[in-house]
Amino acid sequence: MKTHDIHHRLNVENNQLIFAGKSAEEIIAIAGGTPCYVYDKSLVVNRVKALRSMLPETVKIHYAIKANPYAPLVGQMVNHVDGFDVASHQELILALASGMPAANISFAGPGKSSQDLTAGVASGVIINVESEHELNQIYAIAQQQQCRANIALRVNPSFELKNSGMSMAGGSKPFGIDAENITAMLKKLDVDKVNIKGLHIFTGSQNLNAEALMQAQSNTFELAYQLLKETGVEITHLNIGGGFGIPYFPNEKALDLTAVIDNLTKLLEKYQPLLGFKEIHLELGRYLVGEAGIYLSRVVDKKVSRGKTYLVVDGGMHHHLANSGNFGQVIRKNYPVVMPQEMGHNAPEKVNVVGPLCTPLDILANQINLAPAKIGDVIAVLQSGAYGPTASPQLFLSQPQVKELML
Ligand SMILES: Cc1ncc(COP(=O)(O)O)c(C=O)c1O
Repeated sequence: MKTHDIHHRLNVENNQLIFAGKSAEEIIAIAGGTPCYVYDKSLVVNRVKALRSMLPETVKIHYAIKANPYAPLVGQMVNHVDGFDVASHQELILALASGMPAANISFAGPGKSSQDLTAGVASGVIINVESEHELNQIYAIAQQQQCRANIALRVNPSFELKNSGMSMAGGSKPFGIDAENITAMLKKLDVDKVNIKGLHIFTGSQNLNAEALMQAQSNTFELAYQLLKETGVEITHLNIGGGFGIPYFPNEKALDLTAVIDNLTKLLEKYQPLLGFKEIHLELGRYLVGEAGIYLSRVVDKKVSRGKTYLVVDGGMHHHLANSGNFGQVIRKNYPVVMPQEMGHNAPEKVNVVGPLCTPLDILANQINLAPAKIGDVIAVLQSGAYGPTASPQLFLSQPQVKELML
């Protein structure tokens, strides 16, 4: 049987999974029932601290709120990261309310509305400009508000981050401005209306391949150097994206960051004197929070259909779209799914775990081995701290909303 790397790192006591210091039943009692997500505060904090201890001081850690915008979690993050990346007006409001200084918040994403841009300019955050039209709108708003807007240009490079779960750059993309058009834009920037703070080059997401990350980072620095050399524009920060992944599927291994950070340190030594930036921003979502959350649901039915055993649970794709395989996976694979009260069991029963939605897409796990489960038992989906409730179609089939808590 293929095993998940994460299994070896779990906290198991007396055959029970202990998460955030509690058993599954204790978590459910606190949450007020299933289905629920629970996030472990100390896992989040320790993850940020561990990463920071490896990074040179010039490299700042920014949290991409989209990965998990649960307000108490964002309220914790503000004490530990250097900045936030937001992707909507609502996320902007959440970031500002957390107490993060506006100067440390960046606002990315295509298709920003005039309401988004107006709020971005008025609050003083750095707007990562995604198109020429967006820049023209920012000029008009800055003129109206009689201020200079803080901006960075988001560059769509010609290279990509190979082996990514999601490629966000290279070739034709809706994100950012093609690199070959950046020089002309920088040359004619209206500096009475905007402060150009930096460049934003985000190449991809969910990457476990250190070589690919190193290559993309090297290409990113060289591209920034070429663009700034041609134009003489000075920046205070270079946002190099992130893309650090976490293992979800059997045979995936945790990302080895040592080589990536060594390479980054060398790039800093080479390019900082040339580019003059004060800060490098790493923009990370999933890597910081993905391993710090689990999703719990309860078995409500157990049935056999033509030789296959189905556990029907009270949660599913409407809360956890990514686990169902419908959030960017080309071929569906199983997340680590366990019975938290039977962790020491030799798992002799092969089952399909499905949710309560009347669609064949509502899958929690396909053909996995579990201890024989009864109605009322709890099933946990691990690695669920990122892209959970807010990345899922919660209104589909008008099922109850999921509960969330952080311990
Ligand atoms: C602009 C931007 N920043 C940050 C992220 C976060 O990526 P991840 O959660 O993979 O770290 C994304 C994800 O799509 C993104 O589009």
